[in-house]
Amino acid sequence: MTEKLKTILEQAGEELAKAGSLADAEALRVKLLGKKGQLTEILRSMKDYSPEERKTLGQAANEARAKIETMIAERTAELKKLAQEARFKAETLDVTEPGVSAVPGYKHLISLVIDDTIDFFSSMGYTIAEGPEIDTVHNNFDALNADPNHPSRDMTDTFYITDKVLLRTQTSDVQARVIAAQQPPIRLISPGRVFRCDTPDATHSPMFHQIEGLVVDEGITMADLKGVLDKYAKHLFGSHLATKFRPHHFPFTEPSAEMDVECFKCGGKGCNICKGSGWIEILGCGMVHPNVLKFGDYDTEKYTGFAFGIGVERIAMLKYGIDDMRLLYENDIRFISQFR
Ligand code: DAH
Repeated sequence: MTEKLKTILEQAGEELAKAGSLADAEALRVKLLGKKGQLTEILRSMKDYSPEERKTLGQAANEARAKIETMIAERTAELKKLAQEARFKAETLDVTEPGVSAVPGYKHLISLVIDDTIDFFSSMGYTIAEGPEIDTVHNNFDALNADPNHPSRDMTDTFYITDKVLLRTQTSDVQARVIAAQQPPIRLISPGRVFRCDTPDATHSPMFHQIEGLVVDEGITMADLKGVLDKYAKHLFGSHLATKFRPHHFPFTEPSAEMDVECFKCGGKGCNICKGSGWIEILGCGMVHPNVLKFGDYDTEKYTGFAFGIGVERIAMLKYGIDDMRLLYENDIRFISQFR
């Protein structure tokens, strides 16, 4: 029995020295000390010996067990250290190597103009309303007081899906939706895409962007409209520039106007940007026509409102001196990355 223990100890020493990994060391522990391990077997067979023998043998077996445990613990610690060293070696980081630079994304110029306009108007308490790009003839024309024979209704101008459904030609359709659905006070802007049967060229595109504005409340006058839009023009092009409002016609406003801003390039003297006039047309606007307000059953004696429509591409092209609208849709990163 003592011989056996000695052999086990010797073998354990040899095998442990050969154990190349933590898994090997663990396997050896199970082989020697586990439930079916060699040492456990020996301890189990002790019942066949006399009490005297059992005492000495037990002692020897316990000593052997302790020795094996220590040996395994030492080898395990050694192996752990080796494994860590190997890992450190493999993971060495060369801090002098050039890094992989991430190419940042850019907001498109159209988004920049829309975001800037949203910031400007939301700072004055305007909310943002959105409408679908596919809308009804009612919302896009009828509810906006467009004459049944208005030329913009023609198949040559408007993309019809059915005789009652179309791709909206203006974000003004959101006015119709909001007025039908909610009571004043209303103070909103609505950015979005609009569609018209146009062949793309330097100043036309079958799809472009508008931002609609609508305010309805008690006592709203043309002075409110002028105050807000003058501030917006100054925000866009420079606080020193004057604005003027020219009479115009839109079916859904009365009176209607177009707002011009003094040319930001020549300051009003006349140049190629303002085509010599000293003024640049910025947007359309007006006081909401009572025929439009009536679709919301509003008391038109009590409530009045103003509306405006901004052409996003137009603002972007003016502000950044872009002379061909198609550049805005080509998504050439060299073009897009210039506007940050
Ligand atoms: N919907 C007009 C257009 O597409 C733009 C416009 C003009 C909107 C005047 C308005 C407005 O709300 O008051 O040409």
